[in-house]
Amino acid sequence: MTARSSLVGDLDLDVTLDAPIGAMTWYGIGGRADMLVSPRSAEALELFIRRCQSEEMPVRVLGGGANLLVDDAGVDGVVIRLDHEHFRSTAFNAVGDVTAARVAAGVDLFRLVQDMSRRGLAGLEMMAGIPGTVGGAVRMNAGGSWGAFSDALDTITAVDFDGELRSWKAADLYFQYRRSDLPPCIVTEVILTLHEADPVEVRDKVKQIFQHKRASQPMADHSAGCAFRNPEGTTQSAGRLIDETGLKGHSIGGAVVSDQHANFIVAQPGASSTDIRKLIDDVQARVAAVHGITLEPEVVIWQRGVRP
Ligand code: FAD
Ligand code: EPU
Repeated sequence: MTARSSLVGDLDLDVTLDAPIGAMTWYGIGGRADMLVSPRSAEALELFIRRCQSEEMPVRVLGGGANLLVDDAGVDGVVIRLDHEHFRSTAFNAVGDVTAARVAAGVDLFRLVQDMSRRGLAGLEMMAGIPGTVGGAVRMNAGGSWGAFSDALDTITAVDFDGELRSWKAADLYFQYRRSDLPPCIVTEVILTLHEADPVEVRDKVKQIFQHKRASQPMADHSAGCAFRNPEGTTQSAGRLIDETGLKGHSIGGAVVSDQHANFIVAQPGASSTDIRKLIDDVQARVAAVHGITLEPEVVIWQRGVRP
């Protein structure tokens, strides 16, 4: 029996070998994964992770690929994707004017925000215009000027890398700007706390935030959003620092610093992942030389042989 068949065997999951995962990201570039696995249930996910653990197989989890750069040489081991309908469901439980929304990790954020504003549920407007899945939003604690995903989080359920199903109250974790102390795991579901509100007001707020993003960011281009975190402990913005360094339009190969927002490193047709990485390094070095600040990348980079 090969390692592959003993891993997958009788489990309730879909498997693609040599899967083009780079093309599944917002960048749309980068290589392939040895194995892409889409479990059809949380139980199948748990059993599969236990087998990966005993075979010492590296495991990565792909959400919507909106904050991810896959190396041109692809990645080794297994990539899990929660795209089966089991991981795309949403259920609501209202008590008075508070609604607990149980949302599976594979749910698309755009659709979730739309769904909430249609139902007149307030509390997720800050996620307007942020692409990706619920699982990715938890891991990245995605957000912006209007708040972060953790503001709405009540409970997180996940499978850890020992294959155990675990649950945390968000209040017992420490969520910060784009990070948290949530242990390494595959988020499978969350409970969000939302409030009944006037649907028109919720829709208007979502529209206002979306329009701000569309006016200031290259939303239609191939990117992973902001390439760098804003420097913490200061009021500095990475975008402004890159802009003040004169780097808008600066390019390496097919990678270019956006003219619209300097913290977006965009892939033009023909760009490789290597171009993007070179430009990230170059921008980091030039900003450090001018401002004495070393920007920290926000984009997650996956490489063969480098443990996630
Ligand atoms: P991915 O990119 O697939 O993965 C990102 C990380 O999350 C990886 O480490 C991955 O392993 C992990 N992950 C994914 N799913 C799970 C899971 N189920 N369990 C555990 N870990 C998981 N971000 C902001 O914060 N604010 C913004 O305003 C914003 N604007 C953006 C605009 C554009 C045009 C783009 C392309 C991106 C933007 N981003 C922004 C970045 C991105 O939308 C967020 O980081 C988002 O949360 C990524 O989610 P994802 O599902 O695509 O995760
Ligand atoms: N600015 C410039 N030049 C630029 C870009 C920005 O001078 O090229 C200036 C702006 O004029 C403004 C300041 O920098 O005075 C801040 O800009 P902005 O309001 O666009 O916010 P940001 O700090 O650059 C953050 C998040 C975004 C999020 C927005 C809005 C980070 C790294 N970025 O951007 O998140 O969408 O706020 O909420 O925290 C992401 O994380 O991927 C992302 C896009």
